Amino acid sequence: MENQVNENMNIYFNIPQVHGLELCREEGKDRKIQEINNGHNMNLAITKCNGESQGKLALVINHYTETLNQEISHLLGYPTNQSFDYGALAPLMQFHINNLGDPFIGSSYGVNSAKFEVSVLDWFAKLWEIKKEEYWGYITSGGTEGNFHGLLIGRENFPDGIIYTSQDSHYSIFKIAKMYRMQCIKVSTLITGEIDCANLKTLLLAHKDKPAIINLNIGTTMKGAVDNIDMVIQTLEESGFTRDRFYIHCDGALLGIMLPLIKQAPVITFEKPIGSITISGHKFLGCPTPCGVLLTRLEHTNTFSKDIEVIGSRDATISGSRSGHAPIFIWYALQKRGLIGLENEVQKCLMNARYLKDKLCDVGISTMLNEFSNTVVFEKPLDCEFIRKWNLAYQGNIAHVVVMQHVTIEMLDSFVDEFTQKRAIWYGLRKPICLANEIGAQNCACMLHK
Ligand SMILES: Cc1ncc(COP(=O)(O)O)c(C=O)c1O
Repeated sequence: MENQVNENMNIYFNIPQVHGLELCREEGKDRKIQEINNGHNMNLAITKCNGESQGKLALVINHYTETLNQEISHLLGYPTNQSFDYGALAPLMQFHINNLGDPFIGSSYGVNSAKFEVSVLDWFAKLWEIKKEEYWGYITSGGTEGNFHGLLIGRENFPDGIIYTSQDSHYSIFKIAKMYRMQCIKVSTLITGEIDCANLKTLLLAHKDKPAIINLNIGTTMKGAVDNIDMVIQTLEESGFTRDRFYIHCDGALLGIMLPLIKQAPVITFEKPIGSITISGHKFLGCPTPCGVLLTRLEHTNTFSKDIEVIGSRDATISGSRSGHAPIFIWYALQKRGLIGLENEVQKCLMNARYLKDKLCDVGISTMLNEFSNTVVFEKPLDCEFIRKWNLAYQGNIAHVVVMQHVTIEMLDSFVDEFTQKRAIWYGLRKPICLANEIGAQNCACMLHK
């Protein structure tokens, strides 16, 4: 894929053709509607005067719960952890808890969970090695909002800065660049999916006059690849970018919390010259609603935060009203498991990911698994029904399974068995395509490379 620069500072999106996507969407829509309507009316009739009886509402919810449980038993392609029990927090459903403003200041709206929020942020400050008095952060609505915030700080520091991000970055990065009207340059990737520092260097040298705002992936969406922080910093220095001329934001949606819990993994730390990190709270931690964590250096927030009288706080967040439940979910997830519990969960995910990779290899399917990653990449199945059943995410010729905590060995066995049987039908006498360009010749099981 080409780097996306042009003279007018516009960003061009090079969206890959996704064959059969429309078909899958349409079929999926019909199926979901049929399931939901299966005798249980979920329509909201505006004209209805009386409230529905508790019994009828309970029927709808019970049916929906069954549908969700069925879906989770086949949920393999998305990095959400479905293995949790937040039942103990049910009493909090009676409150609208809202964390307006700066969590370290609180606000004039008293029904807030700012104390939980700060306690969670302190935990992450220790994890990513930054002193209490040197950091600032907040609980976001998800990894995307964290990226919005991180890149905003980058831009406020360097109004004429250029965003550099690998072509494998999450789509939110390109959207944010467009919304902020910033020049964004796509950097090519290695086969693993990590940023290609040789290409980064060429691009940096071609734009030496402008500061660099780097978005680093701590786990890319499709391949779970981790950009090499040290090598990127070295590349910046070698290209003549001193520390006062670059800003690094780390998009750690899934692996930003998992890597620090693995002993041999690359270290994610504010002791390196990075400016911000974000993760999603509903991914590894398994919060029941989308949420996330954003941490940055205190000095950065001062540049654009503002005191707001009406909320009795300082405005430094992207959104105004923020979920007060989310910090409590994250706090509970951390407290309940403790560090050892979390480390064990990471190990289990990595082990099961290796199990899946080996199993797919054994049946002759092209497969790749990056070190320290729980994302198993393989050839895209040819059948929409199969992709939908297992909730697989795909791009071009590849698909993936993200082995999260709820994914059992039994689920993986049954997935591989069905994949193998269906594959024999899909291909018949035809040979599966070569995936050397996508996952490397050593991982490709086509006739030429196996
Ligand atoms: C690398 C990466 N960044 C950001 C996001 C966005 O996170 P969220 O869905 O929490 O907004 C994702 C989501 O999968 C991701 O994989």
